[in-house]
Amino acid sequence: MTQTVIKPGTLSGSITLPGDKSISHRSLILNSIAVGRSEVVGLSAGDDVMSTLKCLRALGVGIEPNEWEGTYTIEGRDSNLREPGGVLDSGNSGTTMRLLSGVLASQTFTSTLTGDNSLRSRPMARVIQPLKLMGAAIKGARSDSLPPLKIWGRPLKGIEYAMGVASAQVKSAIILAALSAEGDTVIHQPALSRDHTERMVNAMGGHVEVDGLTLIVHPSPLSAIPARIPGDMSAAAFWIVAALCHRDARVMLRGVGLNPSRTGMLDVVRAMGAEITLEAVRDEGGEPVADISVTSSDLSAVEIGGDIIPNIIDEIPILAVAACFANGTTVIRDASELRFKESDRLHATVTELTQLGAKLEETPDGMVVHGTGKLAGGVCSSHGDHRLAMTLAVAGLLCERSVTIKKADSVRISYPEFWEHLRELSNGGVS
Ligand code: S3P
Repeated sequence: MTQTVIKPGTLSGSITLPGDKSISHRSLILNSIAVGRSEVVGLSAGDDVMSTLKCLRALGVGIEPNEWEGTYTIEGRDSNLREPGGVLDSGNSGTTMRLLSGVLASQTFTSTLTGDNSLRSRPMARVIQPLKLMGAAIKGARSDSLPPLKIWGRPLKGIEYAMGVASAQVKSAIILAALSAEGDTVIHQPALSRDHTERMVNAMGGHVEVDGLTLIVHPSPLSAIPARIPGDMSAAAFWIVAALCHRDARVMLRGVGLNPSRTGMLDVVRAMGAEITLEAVRDEGGEPVADISVTSSDLSAVEIGGDIIPNIIDEIPILAVAACFANGTTVIRDASELRFKESDRLHATVTELTQLGAKLEETPDGMVVHGTGKLAGGVCSSHGDHRLAMTLAVAGLLCERSVTIKKADSVRISYPEFWEHLRELSNGGVS
């Protein structure tokens, strides 16, 4: 699908963000391996979360939508899943594959996880290695580096493990495996990444001790809990940048999750001069939530790197758009992990924004963006990557000429309502 976006005279209105993708995956997986029935409100309707839902159903978990309430009921199976009838398809979702590998490693049956072309080219040694140390029998393609993953479930033992990358997916795979292992598991993180798994496990009666960058997982059964999924900060980031860079914008984003391991993007744009107000700050289901009000702002360039990178890992492409409209040269470093996402996001972001008239260069671990205060427009491609499609659509709201995006339907991976929200905020603006 191709979409054309044109710059609206004003950008205004109020929208409610879709459920957080990371928390949605975890609420499904953790409640599936818990004791009891749970109800989840506000689950993301994106394809990635639906991939997790379908895999869990194939593993015998009863998960039913309640159409009227817009909720899902999950019948927890304790830690005993059922042998699937076929291969488990994770679609485009790295979170599905990596988190489920941790769950399946200790089951009593054999299973295989595969995915689409993009996922089948993403690194899996990072989960295979620690799971093997725990005693798992797991095999990946190309010398254990790529999907599909074949897993022969067996009892696991706790380990002490120093992670090579600051990845919440890897950390979560180890935590999930550790929950049913014999003995404690100690995980050392190189930097903090999103902590939704630790939070939810502890809220469900599990025991993950957190001491700075070290986690100690004490094996324990989980009790199902109702979950209310907050709005996705990574989705809000697109509208935040759109409103900051548009000359006549006032946008209200309702119910956005403000877990501190996800709000680095707000720190970055505030350091650039953003005018952002948090309203009605509250706690929903153990996660901080607020309404975010954003208005047009004059931005200045910044240097971004170091320990903040895992916190803003999904927001770097859209921050590159903000940098195009900032005064000065923005440098992004320490972000080579972006090369292993749904596309090589460093290369794809630089290539596609260049197509639209941006002045930026790719570096081995980031990019250098020369703020010119404007973008021209043109034809570009999302590379089938949902975050790139939305980044380019936001660029379209700011370009002097129209922007036509190829493979624009990839937004459905995390934000199926994206084009509808774009229309609402721009009073048209898309064809
Ligand atoms: C996610 C973790 C991040 C992020 C992805 C979702 C998660 O990946 O990029 O969109 O839900 O755990 P890594 O943990 O691989 O950095």
